[in-house]
Amino acid sequence: MCGIVGYVGHKDAESVLTVGLQKLEYRGYDSAGIALLLPSGIIVRKKAGKIRELISSLEEDPLPKSTIGIAHTRWATHGGVCDVNAHPHVSQDGLFAVVHNGIIDNFSALKEVLEEEGYEFRSETDTEVISNLLERNYKLLGDLKGAVLKTVRELKGSFALAVLFREDDDLVIGVRKDSPLVVGLGEGENIIASDPVAILPHTKRVVYMEDEEVVFVRRNSVDFYDFEGNPIQKEVKILDYNEEDAEKGPYPHFMLKEIYEQPRVLAVNLDMYVRDNRPVLLKDLNLRRLLLNRSRVVIEAAGTSYHAGLVGKYLLETYAGVPVEVEYSSEFSHRRLVADSKTLVVAISQSGETADTIDGLRHAKKHGLDVLAIVNRPESTIARESDYVIYTNAGIEVGVASTKAYIAQVQVLTLLALELAHVKGLITDDELEYMISHMKSLPRIVEKVLSLDAHVEHIAGKIFRSTNAMFLGRGINYPTALEGALKLKEVSYMHAIGYAAGEMKHGPLALVDDNLPVIVVNPKSSVYELTVSSTHEVASRGGRVISVITEGDRRMAEISEYKIHIPDVPEIFTPIVSIVPLQLLAYYVAILRGVDPDKPRNLAKSVTVR
Ligand code: M6R
Repeated sequence: MCGIVGYVGHKDAESVLTVGLQKLEYRGYDSAGIALLLPSGIIVRKKAGKIRELISSLEEDPLPKSTIGIAHTRWATHGGVCDVNAHPHVSQDGLFAVVHNGIIDNFSALKEVLEEEGYEFRSETDTEVISNLLERNYKLLGDLKGAVLKTVRELKGSFALAVLFREDDDLVIGVRKDSPLVVGLGEGENIIASDPVAILPHTKRVVYMEDEEVVFVRRNSVDFYDFEGNPIQKEVKILDYNEEDAEKGPYPHFMLKEIYEQPRVLAVNLDMYVRDNRPVLLKDLNLRRLLLNRSRVVIEAAGTSYHAGLVGKYLLETYAGVPVEVEYSSEFSHRRLVADSKTLVVAISQSGETADTIDGLRHAKKHGLDVLAIVNRPESTIARESDYVIYTNAGIEVGVASTKAYIAQVQVLTLLALELAHVKGLITDDELEYMISHMKSLPRIVEKVLSLDAHVEHIAGKIFRSTNAMFLGRGINYPTALEGALKLKEVSYMHAIGYAAGEMKHGPLALVDDNLPVIVVNPKSSVYELTVSSTHEVASRGGRVISVITEGDRRMAEISEYKIHIPDVPEIFTPIVSIVPLQLLAYYVAILRGVDPDKPRNLAKSVTVR
């Protein structure tokens, strides 16, 4: 959370930095700020609110031009949301300005020492400690590199930093520890940012920083060091994204754009992972070794990725006969791990930077367990630290609500379960090929579901004034209900809860009255009849049933106030098809309630705090 960017070059730094901030806004949007280095010193402008507040302020009252600066978009951790707590934070005598993504765990102790030495603090943030510590150490040592290294070694916690030093107008300093930072290499200009999306408009040549690394970025050079000051050689990578991937294009919001990209994402993964109606993931002997002969799989993930993990449990158990547990990363990583070497840990993450999931991965590695990552973003921390990575190839997902990344995760888990089942002799060649031939029609089927857009918008119009909503599903679509509820609550602020349909009668049924929209996910499946019974229990108590059902299903239609018909697909693919109308429903409810679905309050795309 929080996005940082730093630039030194020949362009107008304010413009480079504000465009960069807009690309990073998904990482946090409580407040934003910019610092430029001028011959007279460091000048700062910062504002509570979204980045457009900062930009309006810069338009109304322009800053002098500069070709070097740093900027920040904030997701508050320490200190309330106000101009003073916004970054950058300048040291007491104005020598350093700092922007920071992460949390300094020992900031109180450091602050006490600095206060005893006469430093006065203007903000409530942990970050101001960093700028003052840099200044104190620089005055102590009289050497910039020494001061930077001493400072980063004194800090405990997670921090990606971009730093301006008043005495050098050809230098931006970057630091990475447990928060991402990427360096973009240009011609006569260089840029650092939390995410390559902010670098893409300038260059595709990047260097990914590792933990405990410092970079001194100048117009014509970039020098990397470890925290001991030893120089490091780094590999230059070429970004595999297009700038349009990070643009809204004709869509009003990223969320809608990304929902509409789902057929393409499904097609990309079919192209990547299927040959002649057979999945080819396990052709890689390293992955095969990792998966075969496991007596247990533990999936750890957060939010939407956790829901994909729940679908994965159903798939791996049902088809491949592997016992699977699914854990919230935030719970998994702080508990005694009872497992032997036959346990495989699977970390699922869109960003690959979720702190809880990284902790889970490290917890597993510390216990000597193998970790398989299912990740969307290449070069992310989770991708780099795992024993094996399966990429989900959904492209850049900007909307805070995860949509296309979820479908890709479920698709990859489906392919993996089917291929593993086949390798273990649990399904025949014909069965595998039959399934994959159906999977190949999913891009077209999801396209068809998207054509229900106006119908779903109409239903959204009927429920958007409700204060609560309930989502029900069973079996492989229980996670679909959970995911539908998460989507609705996070983007529209309507309280929504997902239940296993069969659990209704054990308590939640008491919530049902004629004001409660109950969204029942019940396409044709092995638990269809049971879910029909649960729906009757709701309908007979006046609940307003909105059903996601298979085309031609009259029985569910009769007990539903509104129906969303999806094409008939084998049960194994129903989670992929039935989540799409629920994503659209959440989107339109948000719009009708006047909420920007791309930037729901209090949230950020990449949750890099614990
Ligand atoms: O990047 P990750 O998949 O690790 O992120 C996990 C969650 O933070 C994420 O899915 C979150 O719940 C989304 N906002 C859901 O739409």
